[in-house]
Amino acid sequence: MIWRVLVGTVSVVIGMLTLGYVAITEQDRMASFTTSYAARDIEAGAAIYEAQCVTCHGDLGQGGRGPALDDVKLFDGTRTTEIAWTGTVHDFVYLTIAGGRPRPSEYYAALGNANRMPTFSNRFGGPLREDEVLAVTAFVMNWGEAYKDASGQFPQATPTPNPNAAGTDITIELPVGDATRGQALVTSSGCVACHVGPAAGVVAPAWQTAESKDGKGVAAHAEERWSSEGYAGTATSTDQFLFESIVNPNAYITPPGEGATWPAGGPSVMPGTYSTSLLKQDMADIIAYLKTIP
Ligand code: HEC
Ligand code: HEC
Repeated sequence: MIWRVLVGTVSVVIGMLTLGYVAITEQDRMASFTTSYAARDIEAGAAIYEAQCVTCHGDLGQGGRGPALDDVKLFDGTRTTEIAWTGTVHDFVYLTIAGGRPRPSEYYAALGNANRMPTFSNRFGGPLREDEVLAVTAFVMNWGEAYKDASGQFPQATPTPNPNAAGTDITIELPVGDATRGQALVTSSGCVACHVGPAAGVVAPAWQTAESKDGKGVAAHAEERWSSEGYAGTATSTDQFLFESIVNPNAYITPPGEGATWPAGGPSVMPGTYSTSLLKQDMADIIAYLKTIP
């Protein structure tokens, strides 16, 4: 009889200890499941990326026909803030992959890279199942992990101003400009997308006299605008007017003629970043080129 009570007591104690152990370790066990599940998702995503995405985004996400994806700006919120996306970065990536970009966005068109991205979710006629879209999203998001610091935060972007950047002081003395180099720069900087060709005179003032509705190209405009009535900027020469138009587009809004879509009162639709992205030499070269456009 006694030994029965003993066995009963001992087994109850063992049972409770086991339960206690499971209860204590359960969270770790579940967490390790979650981790390995996420790892498998990323792995599956890598295979899909390899098959579907490398041709446009590069094997390391460095970009090509499509934009770079292994870019801290995509993950730290810079990119989503720029386009006023209010959801999470994960959802932005997910939605882009699921729906694609049936039309090139103005953002990349302005950077001289107007391309389309195909739709991937089979909900919208693409080749991937929902779980596959989520897996490749996880794979892309995993690139962002490498940019986080020890506390799991993205370091605050600290822009280090380049001392050779053109800047916004239009009275500085620029180096001697090279018009040939300037011509290449206006293409690589995306200016021509707005100022030359079908968009000229509609999206932005036409540079070429032949495309201009008022019979004057950018060279003639620059010469007369800074001394004309209604000029609100600070330029006191043709060169300064061109400099100012590029680094501070809002100083003076070129009057939109008939059929033009840019707002007369501003804000200018011209990117406001050229003062930091272009160097003094670039500015001199572009100004020299603009003055030679027939
Ligand atoms: C045919 C070329 C092409 C393929 C294939 C392609 N993309 Fe894209 N992708 C683009 C282009 C072009 C853009 C930018 C379009 C735009 O906004 O003008 C883009 C944009 C994106 C963006 C948003 C980036 C941003 O800054 O707006 C993500 C994320 C992305 N692609 C992921 C993928 C993934 C993942 C795959 C594979 C499943 C893929 N893409 C396949 C061309 C492609
Ligand atoms: C997204 C379209 C866009 C891009 C890209 C762009 N511009 Fe403009 N630009 C405009 C618009 C719109 C105006 C007229 C409104 C204003 O005055 O700001 C303008 C005005 C100008 C003017 C004054 C023209 C005049 O006849 O009065 C100059 C000069 C100029 N841009 C140069 C450039 C250069 C150089 C680049 C590239 C480094 C560039 N723009 C890129 C849209 C653009």
